[in-house]
Amino acid sequence: MKEGWTLDDIPWDQFAPERVDRQTLEAVKAAAMVEFNAADYVAYLERVFAGDEAMIESIRRWGVEETQHGRALARWAEMADPAFRFDPAFARFREGYRPAHFESGEAARGGRAGEMIARCVVESGTSSFYSGIRDETPEPVLKVIAAHIAADEFRHYRLFYEAFLKYQPEERLSFLERARVAVGRLAEAEDDELAYAFYAANIASGTDSGEPYDRDTCSREYNRRVLRFYRPQHVKKAVQMILKPVGLSAQSRITRAASRLLWWELQARGRSLGARAA
Ligand SMILES: [Fe+2]
Ligand SMILES: [Fe+2]
Repeated sequence: MKEGWTLDDIPWDQFAPERVDRQTLEAVKAAAMVEFNAADYVAYLERVFAGDEAMIESIRRWGVEETQHGRALARWAEMADPAFRFDPAFARFREGYRPAHFESGEAARGGRAGEMIARCVVESGTSSFYSGIRDETPEPVLKVIAAHIAADEFRHYRLFYEAFLKYQPEERLSFLERARVAVGRLAEAEDDELAYAFYAANIASGTDSGEPYDRDTCSREYNRRVLRFYRPQHVKKAVQMILKPVGLSAQSRITRAASRLLWWELQARGRSLGARAA
Protein backbone atom coordinates (compact mmCIF):
# COMPACT_ATOMS: atom_id res chain seq x y z
CA MET A 1 0.00 0.00 0.00
CA LYS A 2 1.53 3.26 -1.06
CA GLU A 3 2.01 6.34 0.99
CA GLY A 4 -0.05 9.36 0.00
CA TRP A 5 -3.12 7.54 -1.35
CA THR A 6 -6.29 9.50 -2.00
CA LEU A 7 -9.98 8.69 -2.13
CA ASP A 8 -9.57 8.23 -5.90
CA ASP A 9 -7.41 5.16 -5.26
CA ILE A 10 -10.39 3.36 -3.73
CA PRO A 11 -12.33 1.14 -6.19
CA TRP A 12 -15.74 2.49 -5.13
CA ASP A 13 -17.49 0.83 -8.09
CA GLN A 14 -16.67 -2.61 -6.67
CA PHE A 15 -18.86 -1.96 -3.64
CA ALA A 16 -20.86 -5.09 -2.77
CA PRO A 17 -23.82 -4.09 -0.56
CA GLU A 18 -24.85 -7.70 0.06
CA ARG A 19 -21.52 -8.23 1.84
CA VAL A 20 -22.10 -5.51 4.42
CA ASP A 21 -23.31 -6.55 7.83
CA ARG A 22 -24.89 -4.11 10.20
CA GLN A 23 -22.38 -4.58 12.99
CA THR A 24 -19.43 -3.77 10.78
CA LEU A 25 -21.26 -0.76 9.42
CA GLU A 26 -21.92 0.58 12.91
CA ALA A 27 -18.30 0.08 13.95
CA VAL A 28 -17.07 1.86 10.81
CA LYS A 29 -19.38 4.83 11.42
CA ALA A 30 -17.96 5.27 14.92
CA ALA A 31 -14.36 4.87 13.73
CA ALA A 32 -14.94 7.50 11.03
CA MET A 33 -15.84 10.07 13.70
CA VAL A 34 -12.71 9.51 15.76
CA GLU A 35 -10.45 9.55 12.69
CA PHE A 36 -12.00 12.69 11.29
CA ASN A 37 -11.53 14.47 14.60
CA ALA A 38 -7.72 14.60 14.18
CA ALA A 39 -7.49 18.41 13.99
CA ASP A 40 -7.81 18.74 17.76
CA TYR A 41 -4.97 16.29 18.29
CA VAL A 42 -2.84 18.18 15.78
CA ALA A 43 -3.38 21.45 17.67
CA TYR A 44 -2.62 19.73 20.95
CA LEU A 45 0.57 18.01 19.71
CA GLU A 46 1.74 21.24 18.07
CA ARG A 47 1.68 22.82 21.52
CA VAL A 48 3.49 19.86 23.06
CA PHE A 49 6.22 20.07 20.39
CA ALA A 50 6.48 23.86 20.16
CA GLY A 51 9.93 24.76 18.80
CA ASP A 52 10.56 21.45 17.00
CA GLU A 53 9.61 22.57 13.50
CA ALA A 54 10.43 19.26 11.78
CA MET A 55 8.17 17.40 14.20
CA ILE A 56 5.38 19.94 13.83
CA GLU A 57 5.58 19.46 10.07
CA SER A 58 5.27 15.67 10.51
CA ILE A 59 2.37 16.11 12.93
CA ARG A 60 0.47 18.23 10.40
CA ARG A 61 0.97 15.61 7.70
CA TRP A 62 -0.13 12.94 10.15
CA GLY A 63 -3.30 14.93 10.89
CA VAL A 64 -4.12 15.20 7.19
CA GLU A 65 -3.83 11.43 6.85
CA GLU A 66 -6.01 10.72 9.88
CA THR A 67 -8.66 13.08 8.58
CA GLN A 68 -8.57 11.26 5.27
CA HIS A 69 -9.12 7.96 7.09
CA GLY A 70 -12.27 9.51 8.48
CA ARG A 71 -13.34 10.73 5.07
CA ALA A 72 -12.83 7.34 3.40
CA LEU A 73 -14.69 5.47 6.14
CA ALA A 74 -17.50 8.04 6.13
CA ARG A 75 -17.95 7.74 2.38
CA TRP A 76 -18.06 3.96 2.64
CA ALA A 77 -20.62 4.18 5.48
CA GLU A 78 -22.81 6.54 3.45
CA MET A 79 -22.67 4.12 0.52
CA ALA A 80 -23.53 1.18 2.73
CA ASP A 81 -26.33 3.07 4.48
CA PRO A 82 -27.89 5.75 2.26
CA ALA A 83 -29.86 7.07 5.23
CA PHE A 84 -26.65 7.87 7.10
CA ARG A 85 -25.28 11.42 6.95
CA PHE A 86 -21.79 11.78 8.28
CA ASP A 87 -21.68 15.58 8.75
CA PRO A 88 -24.55 15.97 11.23
CA ALA A 89 -23.43 12.85 13.10
CA PHE A 90 -19.93 14.29 13.34
CA ALA A 91 -21.28 17.62 14.57
CA ARG A 92 -23.05 15.75 17.37
CA PHE A 93 -19.84 13.96 18.25
CA ARG A 94 -17.94 17.27 18.42
CA GLU A 95 -20.56 18.78 20.61
CA GLY A 96 -20.51 15.96 23.15
CA TYR A 97 -16.86 15.00 23.25
CA ARG A 98 -14.07 17.37 24.27
CA PRO A 99 -11.31 15.98 26.48
CA ALA A 100 -9.89 18.31 29.13
CA HIS A 101 -6.30 18.34 27.87
CA PHE A 102 -7.44 19.69 24.49
CA GLU A 103 -8.88 22.70 26.27
CA SER A 104 -6.05 23.35 28.70
CA GLY A 105 -3.23 22.81 26.19
CA GLU A 106 -1.12 21.10 28.82
CA ALA A 107 0.84 17.99 27.95
CA ALA A 108 -1.32 15.25 29.41
CA ARG A 109 1.57 12.82 29.91
CA GLY A 110 4.18 15.16 31.31
CA GLY A 111 6.66 15.47 28.48
CA ARG A 112 7.37 14.70 24.87
CA ALA A 113 8.75 11.18 25.32
CA GLY A 114 5.70 10.21 27.39
CA GLU A 115 3.37 11.77 24.87
CA MET A 116 5.01 9.70 22.15
CA ILE A 117 4.54 6.48 24.12
CA ALA A 118 0.85 7.30 24.38
CA ARG A 119 0.67 7.94 20.61
CA CYS A 120 2.49 4.64 19.98
CA VAL A 121 -0.19 2.88 22.02
CA VAL A 122 -2.93 4.48 19.94
CA GLU A 123 -1.27 3.69 16.61
CA SER A 124 -0.66 0.10 17.77
CA GLY A 125 -4.37 -0.17 18.41
CA THR A 126 -5.47 1.41 15.14
CA SER A 127 -2.97 -0.55 13.02
CA SER A 128 -4.18 -3.84 14.47
CA PHE A 129 -7.83 -2.80 14.23
CA TYR A 130 -7.62 -1.96 10.52
CA SER A 131 -5.42 -5.00 9.84
CA GLY A 132 -8.22 -7.04 11.38
CA ILE A 133 -10.88 -5.42 9.19
CA ARG A 134 -8.67 -5.82 6.12
CA ASP A 135 -8.22 -9.53 6.83
CA GLU A 136 -11.77 -10.33 7.93
CA THR A 137 -14.30 -8.23 6.04
CA PRO A 138 -15.85 -9.86 2.99
CA GLU A 139 -16.73 -6.45 1.48
CA PRO A 140 -14.11 -5.64 -1.21
CA VAL A 141 -14.14 -1.84 -0.96
CA LEU A 142 -13.86 -1.80 2.82
CA LYS A 143 -11.02 -4.29 2.50
CA VAL A 144 -9.05 -1.88 0.30
CA ILE A 145 -9.81 1.11 2.54
CA ALA A 146 -8.74 -0.83 5.64
CA ALA A 147 -5.52 -1.98 3.91
CA HIS A 148 -4.59 1.62 3.06
CA ILE A 149 -5.43 2.84 6.54
CA ALA A 150 -3.57 0.00 8.28
CA ALA A 151 -0.43 0.79 6.25
CA ASP A 152 -0.70 4.45 7.30
CA GLU A 153 -1.16 3.51 10.95
CA PHE A 154 2.01 1.40 10.94
CA ARG A 155 3.88 4.38 9.49
CA HIS A 156 2.37 6.67 12.11
CA TYR A 157 3.60 4.32 14.76
CA ARG A 158 7.15 4.55 13.34
CA LEU A 159 6.95 8.34 13.26
CA PHE A 160 6.01 8.52 16.93
CA TYR A 161 8.40 5.77 17.96
CA GLU A 162 11.27 7.64 16.33
CA ALA A 163 10.23 10.84 18.08
CA PHE A 164 10.17 8.89 21.34
CA LEU A 165 13.76 7.74 20.67
CA LYS A 166 14.77 11.33 19.99
CA TYR A 167 13.38 12.73 23.25
CA GLN A 168 13.92 9.84 25.61
CA PRO A 169 17.69 10.53 26.10
CA GLU A 170 16.78 14.04 27.35
CA GLU A 171 13.76 13.16 29.41
CA ARG A 172 15.00 9.77 30.60
CA LEU A 173 11.72 8.23 31.64
CA SER A 174 12.33 5.20 33.82
CA PHE A 175 10.94 1.80 32.91
CA LEU A 176 8.13 2.26 35.40
CA GLU A 177 7.25 5.71 34.09
CA ARG A 178 7.12 4.38 30.54
CA ALA A 179 5.02 1.43 31.60
CA ARG A 180 2.68 3.75 33.49
CA VAL A 181 2.08 5.93 30.43
CA ALA A 182 1.40 2.90 28.25
CA VAL A 183 -0.99 1.32 30.72
CA GLY A 184 -2.66 4.69 31.36
CA ARG A 185 -3.28 5.24 27.66
CA LEU A 186 -4.59 1.70 27.26
CA ALA A 187 -7.04 2.35 30.08
CA GLU A 188 -8.21 5.50 28.31
CA ALA A 189 -9.33 3.33 25.41
CA GLU A 190 -12.29 2.66 27.68
CA ASP A 191 -13.09 6.35 28.09
CA ASP A 192 -15.68 8.38 26.27
CA GLU A 193 -14.06 8.84 22.87
CA LEU A 194 -15.09 5.61 21.15
CA ALA A 195 -18.22 5.15 23.22
CA TYR A 196 -19.43 8.64 22.41
CA ALA A 197 -18.49 8.21 18.75
CA PHE A 198 -20.62 5.08 18.72
CA TYR A 199 -23.48 7.00 20.30
CA ALA A 200 -23.26 9.99 17.93
CA ALA A 201 -22.97 7.78 14.85
CA ASN A 202 -25.50 5.09 15.63
CA ILE A 203 -27.92 6.07 18.36
CA ALA A 204 -28.26 9.85 18.24
CA SER A 205 -28.37 9.64 14.43
CA GLY A 206 -30.78 6.74 14.20
CA THR A 207 -34.38 6.03 14.96
CA ASP A 208 -33.62 5.99 18.71
CA SER A 209 -32.28 9.53 18.51
CA GLY A 210 -33.99 10.58 21.74
CA GLU A 211 -32.12 8.04 23.79
CA PRO A 212 -29.63 9.61 26.24
CA TYR A 213 -25.94 8.75 26.19
CA ASP A 214 -24.84 5.96 28.48
CA ARG A 215 -21.12 5.32 28.42
CA ASP A 216 -21.16 1.72 29.62
CA THR A 217 -23.80 0.64 27.15
CA CYS A 218 -22.15 2.40 24.22
CA SER A 219 -18.71 1.15 25.14
CA ARG A 220 -20.04 -2.39 25.37
CA GLU A 221 -21.89 -2.12 22.08
CA TYR A 222 -18.86 -0.70 20.34
CA ASN A 223 -16.59 -3.45 21.69
CA ARG A 224 -19.10 -6.10 20.71
CA ARG A 225 -18.81 -4.91 17.11
CA VAL A 226 -15.04 -4.61 16.91
CA LEU A 227 -13.75 -7.56 18.94
CA ARG A 228 -14.68 -10.01 16.19
CA PHE A 229 -12.06 -8.55 13.87
CA TYR A 230 -9.10 -9.46 16.03
CA ARG A 231 -7.14 -12.64 15.43
CA PRO A 232 -4.14 -13.81 17.50
CA GLN A 233 -1.63 -12.37 15.02
CA HIS A 234 -3.20 -8.89 15.28
CA VAL A 235 -3.15 -8.96 19.06
CA LYS A 236 0.41 -10.25 19.19
CA LYS A 237 1.66 -7.53 16.87
CA ALA A 238 -0.16 -4.81 18.84
CA VAL A 239 1.31 -5.99 22.14
CA GLN A 240 4.82 -6.06 20.66
CA MET A 241 4.38 -2.53 19.34
CA ILE A 242 3.00 -1.21 22.63
CA LEU A 243 5.78 -2.72 24.71
CA LYS A 244 8.64 -1.66 22.44
CA PRO A 245 8.89 1.95 23.69
CA VAL A 246 8.41 0.67 27.23
CA GLY A 247 11.70 -1.17 26.66
CA LEU A 248 10.52 -4.76 26.23
CA SER A 249 11.57 -6.61 23.09
CA ALA A 250 9.25 -8.78 21.01
CA GLN A 251 11.14 -11.87 22.18
CA SER A 252 11.01 -11.09 25.88
CA ARG A 253 9.06 -13.42 28.08
CA ILE A 254 6.90 -10.58 29.38
CA THR A 255 5.90 -9.56 25.86
CA ARG A 256 4.92 -13.09 24.92
CA ALA A 257 3.00 -13.60 28.14
CA ALA A 258 1.23 -10.23 27.74
CA SER A 259 0.19 -11.10 24.24
CA ARG A 260 -1.29 -14.44 25.35
CA LEU A 261 -3.03 -12.78 28.29
CA LEU A 262 -4.55 -10.06 26.14
CA TRP A 263 -5.74 -12.61 23.59
CA TRP A 264 -7.49 -14.61 26.33
CA GLU A 265 -8.95 -11.46 27.77
CA LEU A 266 -10.32 -10.33 24.40
CA GLN A 267 -11.79 -13.75 23.72
CA ALA A 268 -13.43 -13.84 27.12
CA ARG A 269 -14.83 -10.37 26.59
CA GLY A 270 -16.01 -11.28 23.13
CA ARG A 271 -17.82 -14.32 24.51
CA SER A 272 -19.45 -12.39 27.30
CA LEU A 273 -20.60 -9.72 24.83
CA GLY A 274 -21.82 -12.30 22.37
CA ALA A 275 -19.49 -11.06 19.62
CA ARG A 276 -19.57 -13.32 16.59
CA ALA A 277 -16.85 -13.86 14.03
CA ALA A 278 -17.27 -11.51 11.07
FE1 LIG B 1 -6.20 6.67 11.39
FE1 LIG C 1 -2.79 6.89 12.82
